[in-house]
Amino acid sequence: MWQKLYTVKNSAKYLSDMHDHLLVYSRSKKHWKRNLFPRTENAKENYSNPDNDSRGDWTTNAIQARNYYSLGTYEIVSPQGRVHRPPVGTYWRISEEAFHQLNNDGRIWWGKNGNAVPRVKKFLAEAKAGVVPATWWGYADAGTNAEAKQEVRELLDENTEIFLTPKPEKLVRQVLTVATSPGDLVLDSFLGSGTTAAVAHKMGRQYIAVEMGDHAVTHCASRLRKVIQGEQGGISESEGWAGGGGFRFFRLGPPAFDEQGRIQPRIGFDVLAAHIWFSETGTPWNGGKGSPLLGIRDGRAVALLYNGVLGDKSPHGGNVLTRTTLALIHEEITETGRGFDGPLTVYGEQARLAPGTLERERIVFKQTPYDIEARA
Ligand SMILES: C[S@@+](CC[C@H](N)C(=O)[O-])C[C@H]1O[C@@H](n2cnc3c(N)ncnc32)[C@H](O)[C@@H]1O
Repeated sequence: MWQKLYTVKNSAKYLSDMHDHLLVYSRSKKHWKRNLFPRTENAKENYSNPDNDSRGDWTTNAIQARNYYSLGTYEIVSPQGRVHRPPVGTYWRISEEAFHQLNNDGRIWWGKNGNAVPRVKKFLAEAKAGVVPATWWGYADAGTNAEAKQEVRELLDENTEIFLTPKPEKLVRQVLTVATSPGDLVLDSFLGSGTTAAVAHKMGRQYIAVEMGDHAVTHCASRLRKVIQGEQGGISESEGWAGGGGFRFFRLGPPAFDEQGRIQPRIGFDVLAAHIWFSETGTPWNGGKGSPLLGIRDGRAVALLYNGVLGDKSPHGGNVLTRTTLALIHEEITETGRGFDGPLTVYGEQARLAPGTLERERIVFKQTPYDIEARA
């Protein structure tokens, strides 16, 4: 739970809404390991060393608790002779034997006068390297909505509030601290003002960020460019952010397939070519010259006969693998000047070459649309 406001809103009609929820999911509890928050200077301030203990600064924990403990009802006598029993309704939470062991090791604090209810010393040097994340995140660590709006205004030099509930950089930092390590990949499929990408960048995480609105360009990309230049808002100062790195900006093409996995009837050559090239090679297609040869990669050429790419407007024209269309593909291959003589994969409506010919010429024919893999 995140405390998104630091003060009650007097204008609230009913109750002042001061918090939001963060939902935490994992594939399985077994696979998820949370990180600790770094111990802040504030947290260290709770430790001191009033008795000059050689083990350094310490704080204390109570030894009584409300939970029933059958061995936790013994009497304790303080160094000054005062007898202590667990306060009414509580039990010592350690056994008498464990208590004496701690006392012999100088780990019991009896107060300045040596007579107080005993407490167990907890040394800073022995404390965990970090602080266990709790389910409650206060604004001091996680920031507020108002801070987030200010961050966006400063970055984008504007007063209009495009985002009603932007998240402060500190909040996203808390999330990424608990759930990721440097170099991990972060996905935000609703990027909004770009906070997740900006924070991931400053924290040395990789990221994929998706945004459908025009603000992908006007806000997100422009914010990330400022981050790269070393902007000093949000978490920059505390992270020691000085700029650097980079990102790539892609625009999503029109969908190549409908919900049933059929090729969209009016899909253009370039869109289908990009899809086929990616599914064959796992790499983005750099565009072609309106010719059927999509490219040569990893010792294999890939060609697509689609939409009358050869300029033949007759039915099936330019979409069928014949001696003529094959010759044109070979011409294209020769024109690349790479002396390529390897196998060829051709996508088309139909092949008019005999199976033996295809095999001899090391051609794999794939029929559109059936052999095109639609991504789920
Ligand atoms: C509430 S905003 C996210 C705000 C963000 N948490 C922040 O701090 O800036 C949600 C964003 O998701 C975008 N969005 C909604 N549906 C989307 C979709 N299907 N694909 C990509 N972006 C989408 C909206 O344009 C909007 O910018």
